[in-house]
Amino acid sequence: MSHPTIVTMPGDGIGKTVLPEALRVLDRTGFRASYVHADIGWEFWCREGNALPARTVDLLAKHRVGFFGAITSKPKAEAAAELDPALRDRGYTYFSPIVGLRQRFDLDISIRPCQSFPGNPLNFIRRKGDGFEEPRVDVVIFRQNTECLYCGVEWTNPPSTVRAALETHPRMAAFRHVASPDLAVSCRIYTRPACRRIVEAAFAHAAKHGYRSVTVCEKPNVIRETSGMMLSEARIVKARYPDIALWDTNIDAQTMWLTKDPENYGVIVSGNMFGDIISDAFAGLTGGLGFAASANLGRDCAVFEPTHGSAPKYADYPVPIVNPIATILTAAMMLDHLGEADRAEAVRRAVADVVREGRVRTYDMLRLKGSPDALRQGAASTTQMTDAILARL
Ligand code: NAI
Ligand code: MG
Repeated sequence: MSHPTIVTMPGDGIGKTVLPEALRVLDRTGFRASYVHADIGWEFWCREGNALPARTVDLLAKHRVGFFGAITSKPKAEAAAELDPALRDRGYTYFSPIVGLRQRFDLDISIRPCQSFPGNPLNFIRRKGDGFEEPRVDVVIFRQNTECLYCGVEWTNPPSTVRAALETHPRMAAFRHVASPDLAVSCRIYTRPACRRIVEAAFAHAAKHGYRSVTVCEKPNVIRETSGMMLSEARIVKARYPDIALWDTNIDAQTMWLTKDPENYGVIVSGNMFGDIISDAFAGLTGGLGFAASANLGRDCAVFEPTHGSAPKYADYPVPIVNPIATILTAAMMLDHLGEADRAEAVRRAVADVVREGRVRTYDMLRLKGSPDALRQGAASTTQMTDAILARL
């Protein structure tokens, strides 16, 4: 059988640390692939004025499966200041390359599982009587990944044509006295086909994996048009799934409820902004960024990435201390995508075993301050954690 080719994009900071660890795990499962490296991230912005070089886009266009580490992003002014002086004032503007990849390949479905592993000291617990209980959290977030406030349609000092168009809306009267240079506008754009696709993916996942509910987490009582479209599409799709309940919650209330009864939720579906928020919020109940894996799926292309960023503070330690589990669980999602369900399950079981045994824990799992000292205080290094998982495979 021919091997798949996977485009590896370690990116910046700890992306360069954790990606090779996950490749060691993939290798140990017996999974065979060819890996091609692709450039992405801050150094390519600084040197070339493009954090997502065309050669990287070409590789992904050819091979259709990407495995991404993390990138560093900085606000507009800082990005401009770090650009190679030879490129300044030539119209280059920084745009997040991972957001760029999602849009370029229409990776519109983001899946972020938040499932607690028994024995993880970071699991959510709640007071009960004189003691505590630890509800099992098993939530999968489906985040619409290409639209909403991340679509990049925004201005400070909008051009007069834009301003005039906005002023056709009666509610713009409230901003009539604001000078354009003092006006910032970011558009929240939803489309019906994209709402339909994310909701269909969420219901299909719930049906396949036995979840009893799909919760639309938006804010349709206030953001009537966009959130309203997501909810109305969900109602249409729900009609095909009589055994799965459709709940809807508001993002603000949901962030409160999730610490009350997180075990009540199954699949959650949200737009891009609220999906970003709610997936980090649930991740906080199941081990935090060291455990948060994700997939970005399009119709004919997929990119897998840990949810965390490049954590630049931790990037240059002589012995890396960050938790590789998020990226290793991400690799398991990639195996699922490539039809390697047994190997994916084996990886998750190995992670679960190591977490349950509790002998090898990275600094985050011990709630230590992230510093090289953590190793002397009993934390496992990144490599030691991977080794423990390998030993279980
Ligand atoms: P971050 O996710 O890089 O780190 C936040 C904190 O989470 C770290 O200081 C660390 O305490 C912890 N953490 C993250 N990954 C961990 C791991 N594997 N093991 C243990 N602890 C871990 O987010 P931050 O600091 O807000 O951003 C740093 C840079 O990353 C920024 O430039 C930001 O724009 C970028 N970023 C990139 C993302 C991506 O590539 N998809 C996502 C989020 C942020
Ligand atoms: Mg985020």
